[in-house]
Amino acid sequence: NSIAVIIPAAGVGKRMLSSTPKQYLKIQGKTVLQHTVERFCSLSFVAKIVIAVSENDGYIQDLLPKLSSKVTLAIGGKERADSVLAALKALDNFKYPWVMVHDAARPCVLKSDINKLFEQVKRTQRGAILGAPVRDTMKRSDKYNQIKHTVEREYLWHAYTPQMFQTELLAQAIDCHLANQQVITDEASAMELAGYPVQLVEGSDTNIKITRPQDLTLAQIYLENSNNEN
Ligand code: CTP
Ligand code: MG
Repeated sequence: NSIAVIIPAAGVGKRMLSSTPKQYLKIQGKTVLQHTVERFCSLSFVAKIVIAVSENDGYIQDLLPKLSSKVTLAIGGKERADSVLAALKALDNFKYPWVMVHDAARPCVLKSDINKLFEQVKRTQRGAILGAPVRDTMKRSDKYNQIKHTVEREYLWHAYTPQMFQTELLAQAIDCHLANQQVITDEASAMELAGYPVQLVEGSDTNIKITRPQDLTLAQIYLENSNNEN
C-alpha cells in the first residue's frame, strides 16, 4: 500500500532571474527543495522519494544529509518530462505500483491535500491530480493581445501537482510521447494523450509553483500559515 514519490528538481529556473536555481533559494532558513521533501517524508504511505537533479547540480550533496533516508537521487534531463522519466527508471523494476510526481518548486502543498489525492486514488484505482477551479474570466487572444473570445470558465481548472498514476503506465506513456516528440508539460497530459481517464481532485490554491521573484514572498506567507498543519 506504499507508494513512491518523484520530485523533478533539475530545472534552472530561468523566469526566477536568480543565479541560484529556485529550488535552492531559502525560505525561513531552509531551501525550497527541503520544504517540499518534508511535506512528503512524514506521510506513512510514502516509502521512497526520488529527486531528479541536474547533472551539474552543485547544491544537492550539501542538502542530502538534511533530508529523510527515504530519499535517493536520479540525474534529470533536458525537459521536465525527461527528468521524470529518468526518476521513474530509477525505481527498481517498478517495485511501487503507484507513484506521485510533485514539482520541487511547490513547497506549499498541504499534507491534507496530498492525503486527499492518495485516498481518492486508493478508492477509485484511477489516476488523479490536484487542481483548482479557475476564478478569473478567461480570454483567448491573438499574438497582438487582441481578444478573440471569452473562454467559458465553467469546467476550467488549474493543474497542480502532485499527480498520481500507475508507475508502469506512466513510464510507458512518457517514453512513447518523448519518442514521438510530443510536448508534455505534466504527467496528466501524458496519460490523457495515451487515452487514460484522469480525475481532478480539488486542492488549496495556495499550492503555487514558485516561478517569478515575487512568488517567493507569497510562498513564505503560505509556508508560515501551514507549518502548524498536522
Ligand atoms: N524540472 C526538471 N527538469 C527540467 C526542467 C524542470 O526537473 N529539465 C523541474 C523544475 O526543477 C521544477 C519543475 O520541474 O521543480 C517545474 O518546472 P518549472 O517551474 O518550469 O521550473 P524551471 O524549468 O526550473 O523554471 P523555468 O521554466 O523558469 O526555467
Ligand atoms: Mg521550466
